[in-house]
Amino acid sequence: MKALMIREWGGNDKAVMEDVPVPQPAPGEVLVRIRAAGINPVDWKVREGYLKDYVSLPRILGSDFAGDVAALGEGVTDFPVATAVYGMKGFGGGAFAEYTTLAASSIAPKPASLTYAQAAAVPLAAVTAWHSLFEAGQIQPGQRVLIHAAAGGVGHFAVQFAKIAGAYVIGTASARNEAFVRGLGADEFVDYNAAKFESVVKPVDLVLDTVGFEVSTRSLDVLKAGGKLVCMVTPPPVEAAAPRQIQATYTNVQPTTAILTSISQCIEDKRVQPHISQTFSLDQIHEALQANQTQSTRGKIAVDFNN
Ligand SMILES: NC(=O)c1ccc[n+]([C@@H]2O[C@H](COP(=O)([O-])OP(=O)(O)OC[C@H]3O[C@@H](n4cnc5c(N)ncnc54)[C@H](OP(=O)(O)O)[C@@H]3O)[C@@H](O)[C@H]2O)c1
Repeated sequence: MKALMIREWGGNDKAVMEDVPVPQPAPGEVLVRIRAAGINPVDWKVREGYLKDYVSLPRILGSDFAGDVAALGEGVTDFPVATAVYGMKGFGGGAFAEYTTLAASSIAPKPASLTYAQAAAVPLAAVTAWHSLFEAGQIQPGQRVLIHAAAGGVGHFAVQFAKIAGAYVIGTASARNEAFVRGLGADEFVDYNAAKFESVVKPVDLVLDTVGFEVSTRSLDVLKAGGKLVCMVTPPPVEAAAPRQIQATYTNVQPTTAILTSISQCIEDKRVQPHISQTFSLDQIHEALQANQTQSTRGKIAVDFNN
């Protein structure tokens, strides 16, 4: 099978399409014939070696996908062969390949209304947004929630989920994304180039920090005592947060069939819509990775293996 392999850390030239054996599912796993994959910042971060303390080489890149169940490992009964599914491999990698194996507990039936390419763009970003708001953030109706990078992969799902939760949502992005972010349901928009968000945003209960670095510490200035800061890029500023009675945590995403199924339900009910700004073919996967590395993706980028 074709697979995008890295054997050395580095730029796009280190990601090479190779012919490798099709993996076999272990007990509790499924083999999936991948039809489309999503592009996520973690893919190029892994390739560059930013996460080399946590992942080893060689490895196949790629985090989330949609495809069809091709074979079952021992003990798997939930997903018959040929079921259209979507799921997330996360740090395990392996989605930029014609086949992959993973735990049956990390997939769910693909939302029927979505194409494979649309569905592939959902799992990692949407599960991250879901976990950050509902589990780590314990979002409540009527709360004020600030979502950084609201136009990005995680952010555009987070705005939609936070509105479902009944929150008042403030999103940050650059001016070109104002109409997009408001269209997702945001009640307020902050152009981070025009104003410091901490100068214009009134106190909030919850911040979803998809940017990291100094944005994490500056976010403490807009949080009420008792509020929550959920970080996903750099370590949470726990020591600075504690004296202000703010709980700062780091997102630790575990994809589960239950979360993916809840997300599918929101999509099928038309309460959440994934936005795909660009779709590439498998032959163009380096361009897809490069496009995301500019850090200006609106919604998601997908790779359609059938194109
Ligand atoms: N820890 C975890 O489990 C986990 C899980 C998922 C993602 N992440 C991380 O979370 C980050 C976001 O992921 P993603 O998939 O949403 O990325 P993404 O889709 O590539 O994000 C792109 C968006 O970021 C916006 N942006 C860039 N700088 C900004 C700033 N200073 N303030 C506000 N918006 C800004 C851009 O908007 P403009 O073009 O308008 O600037 C663009 O829409 C990445 O670093 C990713 O690695 C971590």
